Amino acid sequence: MKKIIVATGNEGKMDEIRQILQGEGITFASLKDENLQDVEIVEDGTTFEENAIIKARTISDLTGQMVLADDSGLEVDYLNGEPGIYSARYLGEDTSYRIKNNHIISLLEGVPDEQRTARFVCAIACAFPDGRTITVRGVIEGRIGYEEKGENGFGYDPIFYVPEFGCTTAELTPEQKNKVSHRGKALTKMYQELQKEGIV
Ligand code: IMP
Repeated sequence: MKKIIVATGNEGKMDEIRQILQGEGITFASLKDENLQDVEIVEDGTTFEENAIIKARTISDLTGQMVLADDSGLEVDYLNGEPGIYSARYLGEDTSYRIKNNHIISLLEGVPDEQRTARFVCAIACAFPDGRTITVRGVIEGRIGYEEKGENGFGYDPIFYVPEFGCTTAELTPEQKNKVSHRGKALTKMYQELQKEGIV
């Protein structure tokens, strides 16, 4: 049985990863399962990929195991790509998303639809014990809405409007969102990479 450690403390992410990547003879362990939840990881990369690699490599070097890690965020074109890699820390780590979301809406006041383009980006890295690392990226394109809408999801979902669905990602069911989301797409790409490696 092969084990892959997933460098996350988020159970929702663990479930999604298990659903998409689960194969014969493979198990997924979270940082908590491995008693590694207190390991300090300095995410000082300048891209989503760099931060995902830092997390995966740190845990792989420590354990000698194969490790997956992701990094994600929202890029708003009108704000030059902000909040980007700082999405979780935007306006302060403990600031509510009601405040973060309404701040972004206020920065885009009067900005027309075609200039409200934005995307959720997810980079996933897999670090191997031999020092190799592979990364994949998934993206979902959308626009910043004019008000918060929807109760599902988390974070910036209530202001992320997807024209092809005619609603925000907070108005999609979890199943609908997983099929089209940045993380869902990146996980599918990672599955293909792990297939090439003969792991899944
Ligand atoms: P992390 O990759 O888990 O650190 O997530 C970074 C941050 O990006 C989150 O805290 C959210 O603010 C934002 N984010 C990432 N993915 C999503 C999403 O699917 N919906 C809403 N916000 C997201």
